[in-house]
Amino acid sequence: IAARQVAGNLLAWYDAHARDLPWRSPPGTNAPDPYRVWLSEIMLQQTTVATVRPRFEEFVARWPDIESLAKADDATLMTAWAGLGYYARARNLIACARAVISEHGGAFPATEEGLRGLPGVGAYTAAAIAAIAFGARAVVVDANVARVVARLFAIAEPLPAAMPDIRAATDSITPDARAGDFAQAMMDLGSSICTPRSPHCLSCPLSAHCRAYGEGDPERLPVKRPK
Ligand code: ADE
Repeated sequence: IAARQVAGNLLAWYDAHARDLPWRSPPGTNAPDPYRVWLSEIMLQQTTVATVRPRFEEFVARWPDIESLAKADDATLMTAWAGLGYYARARNLIACARAVISEHGGAFPATEEGLRGLPGVGAYTAAAIAAIAFGARAVVVDANVARVVARLFAIAEPLPAAMPDIRAATDSITPDARAGDFAQAMMDLGSSICTPRSPHCLSCPLSAHCRAYGEGDPERLPVKRPK
């Protein structure tokens, strides 16, 4: 795979087609706010973008920054989380806001390692925040990205055993610059073009590099472990 061409094509596509999501660029600035990136990533852990979008807007209207969220009353926050499910996320949310204030002087750590020490922030979320909020060259693999990469490299091993290969393949195409845009472009491509059942390969900026497309059967991948 021609890694630089893949990243270049994908970023050009993203510049033209990125979804306009409220955590990507706060009004009036061009730099993502780590607080908003973190909040969105926690909300998106088990919930769809369509469900998260209005709830995210409510949350940031009510708690615009980490200081205000750290001071929120636990019961009020749990009520505000209603409907998003997985309430452990809401408990970790407030614990994390308080840890950022008390242990990090109010600023999110900028590295994957630092971020992983925070309540509710696992390996995926740390990589996503490091890349999206801080521009770190982190390898970000969610379910959408795993599908895109399994097809691009024709990785036929079933999930989840294929994950180490998928991570290594994602690493091989992640650019040094714009790693956050690259990660979000992969997510957008997976949600709009490289969809599970009938991918829109004729509109895909990566089709010329895609092994599964070349082999004629992208929808076959990724293979799921038989239940
Ligand atoms: N899913 C998880 N993080 C996301 C993001 N930053 N943009 C779109 N979908 C996502």
